Amino acid sequence: MSNKENWGSRVGLVLAMAGNAVGLGNFLRFPVQAIQNGGGAFIIPYLVCFLVMGIPLLFIEWSMGRFGGKHGHHSTPFILDSMDPKRVFWKYIGVFGIFTNLAVAAYYCYLESWTLAYIWHSVSGTFLGQSADQIASFFGHYISLYGGGTETILVWIFCLVLNTWILSKGLSGGVEKVAKIGMPLLILFGILLAIKGITLKAGEEGAIHDGTHGLNFLWTPNYDSIWSAKVWLAAAGQIFFTLSVGMGSIQCYASYVKSKDDIALNAMSAGWMNEFVEVVLGSSILIPIAIGYLGIDRVVELTASGGLGLGFKTLPYLFQQWGPTLAALAGVFWFGLLFFAGITSSLAMGTPCMGFLMDEFGWKRERAAWAFGGTILLLGLPTVLFFNEGVFDEYDYWAGTVSLVVFALAEVILFAWVFGMDKGWKEITTGADIRVPVFFRYVTQFVTPVILGWVFFASLPDIWSKITNAELKAKIAASVDPAEIAKLNDQMAYLNGSRVFLLALFIGICMLVYKAYTKRKKEGRATV
Ligand code: ALA
Repeated sequence: MSNKENWGSRVGLVLAMAGNAVGLGNFLRFPVQAIQNGGGAFIIPYLVCFLVMGIPLLFIEWSMGRFGGKHGHHSTPFILDSMDPKRVFWKYIGVFGIFTNLAVAAYYCYLESWTLAYIWHSVSGTFLGQSADQIASFFGHYISLYGGGTETILVWIFCLVLNTWILSKGLSGGVEKVAKIGMPLLILFGILLAIKGITLKAGEEGAIHDGTHGLNFLWTPNYDSIWSAKVWLAAAGQIFFTLSVGMGSIQCYASYVKSKDDIALNAMSAGWMNEFVEVVLGSSILIPIAIGYLGIDRVVELTASGGLGLGFKTLPYLFQQWGPTLAALAGVFWFGLLFFAGITSSLAMGTPCMGFLMDEFGWKRERAAWAFGGTILLLGLPTVLFFNEGVFDEYDYWAGTVSLVVFALAEVILFAWVFGMDKGWKEITTGADIRVPVFFRYVTQFVTPVILGWVFFASLPDIWSKITNAELKAKIAASVDPAEIAKLNDQMAYLNGSRVFLLALFIGICMLVYKAYTKRKKEGRATV
């Protein structure tokens, strides 16, 4: 077997794990989720979800990974299988841990490529002298192939090749090196921009509010919507996305940890580092600056129609108010920070499928890396070509939201109730460099599955209305304009097509897992 890698150092492992978690979700998704869900009303459910789902799932996934690694497994199909070898279906549940990474990487790398293009446009002065509307429409132009065209595609392909090349260099030779450079730079850039965001003064450099106005909006507790299921679902979804739990990438990274090494302190270090970056830095840049210049109402309005573009549409213009030199510098800091956040996460998304190919089919790392790159190119193409038809958001919904909850629920049941909490607790605490509060044992066993189950069942009506295209059908029924009806029908076809594409991917991975399983049986290789 060619899959015998190790992490070079503990610092490298923690930075790579933190880099996996710290991503575009921290700087683009978190502020938008917070704004869409009422600012202060969002923070309490968010922090509760971190404590009762985020932390237990970090412990579970790190333990599962190290446990699987002991038996030579580096991806979730056979990690799950080794935890309950009597039942055949776990390996197919484990398919989620490869599927999600591929499908998320497919749109995530596209988003990551925008940050590269925007670094270039910030330095080359594209935004100099442009009005707010011109800068906002530059974004629409860039992502529309009729506008950005060749540049958009070339930068995207460059980004894919870069990811693939780094992955082909291995964990200590590629991923770890990028994390060691990228994470400190990201934190430095983040701190500099956060200081500027918080110290913004109304009346200076064109700002209409102090930076603290936006911070107050976010951090003043507001109990109005605390009982709203929608706010809780959004908070849970953000915790999953930001920590990268329910994805399968943590298990893969942790499977390369030595069997007696600590995982408890490592998991907490990476998890809390992510929370520092998200709640301290992530909330001190986009929100204070955007609200400082545009006011709460305008920012709420801008985030209502899909929010990921907010940081691209508004910040380059707002930076222009600081003068040309500082604007270019701030552009490099902001989009550079986003790029490092993105690439350290997308690299983590590449490793589970590579681990699987190397473990099961004896592939070399380089070959597995290029297989990942090629798959992402193919899978990502619809998100690039049909971004405006909603394909990008559709991938995010199924792979970046629903799959995470489904897989996390299955994992916690397996870990706490099938593998068993006695064995599970031993896995968590073996080699631990901290005393893990016993409180988490009971939370993991009882609270996490119940809340996760509730999140899942409460999401079912929304999932059903997506499957049946209820919203689009209602719009079609209400419209009398034939052109609009035709456009909505087209959009429905693109959305249905992308679901079929994702389903085919899932089934394809199941078939590969089946092939690997029969190969193991033929060779007499047990999974444990
Ligand atoms: N955890 C990664 C992020 O926040 C996926 O972007």
